[in-house]
Amino acid sequence: MALQKKYVVEHMEEGISPWVLLEYLAISHDVGGGAKFYLTSLPPSLKSSLPAQLSDPQVATTTSAEVIDLPGVRSLAEQGRVCLLDPSATKDLSPEDAHAFDYFVFGGILGDDPPRDRTGELRKYGFEGRRLGPKQMTTDTAIRVTKIVVEDQIALDRIEYVDFPELRWNKHESTEMPFRYVKDGRTGEPIMPQGMRELIRQDSNRGFDDFE
Ligand SMILES: C[S@@+](CC[C@H](N)C(=O)[O-])C[C@H]1O[C@@H](n2cnc3c(N)ncnc32)[C@H](O)[C@@H]1O
Repeated sequence: MALQKKYVVEHMEEGISPWVLLEYLAISHDVGGGAKFYLTSLPPSLKSSLPAQLSDPQVATTTSAEVIDLPGVRSLAEQGRVCLLDPSATKDLSPEDAHAFDYFVFGGILGDDPPRDRTGELRKYGFEGRRLGPKQMTTDTAIRVTKIVVEDQIALDRIEYVDFPELRWNKHESTEMPFRYVKDGRTGEPIMPQGMRELIRQDSNRGFDDFE
């Protein structure tokens, strides 16, 4: 049985920072073509400045509408077939959920430490909620993990993670990322969007209270 799902990121940041852009590019790369990745709530001014990979309808469909306005989503939500990945949900995502849900919705939110529960703003839609375990993930990691669980049918506790990795720049300087990442089975390193390490290095003088 094909377990091809659709992934929606509801953009919730003011603008589109380089961090967010790298995450969205990584998601579009991971999810692949064929309108399986939707970016919603993007103001028109941002839409026009997106790189081609994100505005190409074969890779990602972008729209200024909210997730609930995507074709078919309202009725699927009424049938309980839309899942909000919510760090405060009482139930964890499981491989069986592949049969229960068609759409998986995520907050397009930069991680913050401590987490501010901005995902809570998406609860207004009344989607079913699922948690991806107790630790905060970046949005691209949350989608990576959801895909592994529902498409590859691997349980959350069988995935190998790297928690709060310390990125070392030299003998004296390093940056700890306060998030959980999927471990790259080949290198043992946390999987991050292309270009993210360089960006973190550039920003390493700033605190992680807020990445905006
Ligand atoms: C960086 S997280 C944002 C968490 C944030 N601190 C907040 O205000 O909710 C971005 C998105 O990834 C998903 N996510 C991250 N970690 C998760 C977890 N442990 N369980 C469920 N969803 C998670 C959620 O959809 C969340 O909106």
